[in-house]
Amino acid sequence: MEVYSEILPFNTSLEEIKSKNPAGIILSGGPSSVNSPDAHLVEKELFELGIPVLGICYGMQLTAHLLGGNVKKGEKGEYGKATLEITKSNPLFTGVSRFSTVWMSHFDEVETLPENFEISAKSGVIAGIFNEKKNIYCVQFHPEVSHSEFGARMLENFVFQICKAEKNWKLTNYIEKTVAEIREKVGNDKVILGLSGGVDSSVAAVLIHKAIGDQLQCIFVDTGLLRKDEGKKVMENYGEHFHMNIDMVDASERFLSKLAGVSDPEEKRKIIGREFVAVFDEESHKFEGAKFLAQGTIYPDVIESQSVKGPSAVIKSHHNVGGLPEEMKLQLLEPLRELFKDEVRKVGEELGIPHHLVYRHPFPGPGLGIRVLGEVDAEKVKILQEADDIFIEELYKNDLYEKVSQAFVVLLPVKSVGVMGDERTYEYTAVVRSANTTDFMTATFSHFPWEFLENVSNRIINEVKGINRVAYDISSKPPATIEWE
Ligand code: XMP
Repeated sequence: MEVYSEILPFNTSLEEIKSKNPAGIILSGGPSSVNSPDAHLVEKELFELGIPVLGICYGMQLTAHLLGGNVKKGEKGEYGKATLEITKSNPLFTGVSRFSTVWMSHFDEVETLPENFEISAKSGVIAGIFNEKKNIYCVQFHPEVSHSEFGARMLENFVFQICKAEKNWKLTNYIEKTVAEIREKVGNDKVILGLSGGVDSSVAAVLIHKAIGDQLQCIFVDTGLLRKDEGKKVMENYGEHFHMNIDMVDASERFLSKLAGVSDPEEKRKIIGREFVAVFDEESHKFEGAKFLAQGTIYPDVIESQSVKGPSAVIKSHHNVGGLPEEMKLQLLEPLRELFKDEVRKVGEELGIPHHLVYRHPFPGPGLGIRVLGEVDAEKVKILQEADDIFIEELYKNDLYEKVSQAFVVLLPVKSVGVMGDERTYEYTAVVRSANTTDFMTATFSHFPWEFLENVSNRIINEVKGINRVAYDISSKPPATIEWE
């Protein structure tokens, strides 16, 4: 909405919040319960600062809990679409129809209200509460996702009508401004960047390349655990089309040999992470004169590395592409540090990166290393790449790719019996996985038409040698995770 905003961890002091003089405060959603002993609570006085507050999902439960209401554990949770009925009009709902579709993702629910609060909306549960005098508005659903029909309107109402915020953050001049800053900072020195083919590192690379041209040297490490033809596509898109210098390292054998015999997911992650840093480090020494290491760090990464780690942080050890070769004493160059993902995408499109590349789904650092379940070998990776490629192609063909948040195929180390022609087969099982999510902390499986799934399954079984059975994953997160390992 072109309004400057910052994300702060839940335990930010009131002093710090006040010093920023915010026009409004949004308390976000989150995966835990306000009733758990290690719940992330804010100071109660936050509601006494005279600053408008919007609580979303966990933010609503938090508000209710802190101000004297009661939050109870839901029986089964509510995920996905729900019908919202506005029962009491208020400034947050200006211009919103009485009945509309919203997106829910919660277990707990507000049972009793704090004093001086009223119910503003219902779905199956209490879906909205407010205290107009104090400018505190809360909703159980997620107005920030596109599935919530009037969600954007509600956020606009909060930001512009209730908080009276000004539009003071425009992307239009961002590219020119940042290009000038990069030139100034880098001078005639050289910059190296780990290009992964993902959105963030690609947009950072194109932006830096626009600023300093051939002074930028990209390193692309093919771990052998990437999607089908990833290296080739990166060279075509960024090497040929944008004329960037890319050092392409085929390290697949190295990765596969280190992974041989290892089936524990966390062990595989560690090996892949370690190997990646080692390969990148070795490669970067080829460019001794380099003074800067560029990274596609975006604003949420900055927050993640600053904020207090919750219990969810240890579920899986994540690693991101790019390790800093320490003894090279490189300075960091992070031109996307201030941007949210949607802004990075806009900048990417403005720089001329094709739409489909800028809107790719996230891909985990350890790649297919954690999507071939159990032991990884070259043959299984190849089988998975083919199956995954078919699924993704069908998503694009059916205009479904951008309607889901992350979609991929998993290869199980399970063989089953099938029949093809007159032959008995005994081959692997593939699982098609697709998740819809706002924040990757909670997710539902995508509700695809049967015909679509049938076609994907037929194509995979008929076209990929090594797979004779396809299953569709219908688990939500929690309790499942999006990846299988
Ligand atoms: P889960 O499986 O935890 O995934 O529900 C949530 C999101 O995180 C991604 N993911 C990873 N990303 N390194 C990464 O860079 C990892 O080890 C890793 N594990 C999961 C996953 O793809 C999804 O987007």
